[in-house]
Amino acid sequence: MEKKRNGFASGFGFIMAAAGSAVGLGNLWGFPYKTHEYGGAAFVLVYIACVILIGVITMTCEIFIGRRAQANPITAFKMVDKKIGWFGVLAILIPGFIACYYSVLGGYTVRFTVNSFKGNTGTFGAFASNGVLVTIFTAIFIAMAVFVVMAGVKGGIEKASKILMPTLFVLLLATAIFSLCLGEGVAEGLKFYLKPDFSKLSGTEILAAMGQAFYSLSLGMGAMIVYGSYTGKEVNLVKSTATICVFDTLVALLAGFAIFPALYHYKATMGVMPENIQGSKLMYETLPMVFESLGVVGKVVSFCFFAMVVIAAVTSVMSLFEVVCQFVIQKFRVSRKKAISTLALICFAISIPVGISAGQDMSAEGAIKVFGMDLLSFFDTVTNTVLMPVCAFFACVAVGWLLGPKKVCKEMEEDGQKLGFFKPIFSFMVKFVTPILIFVIEIFGVYALVFPSGKFSSNGLGIALFSYGLLAVGTAIYFIFFKNKDTGCNADEE
Ligand code: TRP
Repeated sequence: MEKKRNGFASGFGFIMAAAGSAVGLGNLWGFPYKTHEYGGAAFVLVYIACVILIGVITMTCEIFIGRRAQANPITAFKMVDKKIGWFGVLAILIPGFIACYYSVLGGYTVRFTVNSFKGNTGTFGAFASNGVLVTIFTAIFIAMAVFVVMAGVKGGIEKASKILMPTLFVLLLATAIFSLCLGEGVAEGLKFYLKPDFSKLSGTEILAAMGQAFYSLSLGMGAMIVYGSYTGKEVNLVKSTATICVFDTLVALLAGFAIFPALYHYKATMGVMPENIQGSKLMYETLPMVFESLGVVGKVVSFCFFAMVVIAAVTSVMSLFEVVCQFVIQKFRVSRKKAISTLALICFAISIPVGISAGQDMSAEGAIKVFGMDLLSFFDTVTNTVLMPVCAFFACVAVGWLLGPKKVCKEMEEDGQKLGFFKPIFSFMVKFVTPILIFVIEIFGVYALVFPSGKFSSNGLGIALFSYGLLAVGTAIYFIFFKNKDTGCNADEE
């Protein structure tokens, strides 16, 4: 038997870990508020189409590249073609950036869980602008993720995910059922959520749905390449990918079932829709109000809900840490403990100004701003809007054009996988449809950044240039330091 290196012990463990990476704030918070903002059911349908057209194919590519290399993203891309090792730089850099702001948001969720019994209504502003508190909760959140990652892939990430993901699912299901049983207003909520009104659909909505599908599935970052590298041939790649995508989508859809009936119930009983549903306020301002209107039961539901969000966020940050950690271990031959503690400290240090900046009054003098944005939004825009699609595009091109679907499918079949009708669909999609769609997301995303509502924005241009600059710097570092050197593989970890 082949010696099993420090990877996942089982296919189920891998699926839970990858689902843990995918299911995060994007599902429980991003998806519902965007659904609300972009018109309800029609948005949901486009979202599902994007998961199928772009998500499944790109995820297959990423897991495939990682698995055949059994190594970090740089080595993995090198093994596709010697010339494209630099594709992997972005896949390691982006998760590092995301971890720094995602941890701040994670800290918020910890605080909201802890505070559930006291009541969270109206506390968001005061909390977010309290730099010390935000920093403390961010630290707690980071510590939880570090604790798991330090224990390794099998003993930490896999073990934790196998317990946490089913727990999350049960909590979410319970919240959704509770919400659906609220009575008054539920029907209206469901109508909004489920009855599509295609007149509300335009390019903006479609692009938002595409971007959301991407983000939610953790694509366009090293995460799936890295988790893929920890699996072996015994894992059926296509089935696993499908399961992960279905699970992720199910969680997003259920989050909608938990939130919309409750929102409309509030409207029915209070006579008005809660304020501030727009944008990111849904989770931290609106939901606490809704919970509070439900009395004591609401406190319990609030606790369960936010605990579930913490789980979702922690399992996502674990994967972000693991991407960078894996590379540091393999390239610099340091121990896992040393790698993760150093990375966590750096991430924490950066998260402090990010947290402070996110909660400040933006119009105040001396507010921390980069290109007119607070640091959290800045990090988010750089990664999501500009860099993520580039990275996913690389993965598709690597599989679709450099390896070629013929070779890829042959390799999969040699591993004992039956591809069936997936083969022709995949071959066509990965070469043409998916990369083109990703390219479209990138172009329109950057266009909307530089020309928000049609007018040129120098800040938007600044952010775009900064992002591409980062890509250039990363690439230069690769060519100077890593190109002709061994960049390590999974076997390098003790
Ligand atoms: N998918 C995560 C969510 O839904 C967020 C995320 C995006 C992510 N890219 C990632 C998490 C990469 C881990 C790795 O919230």
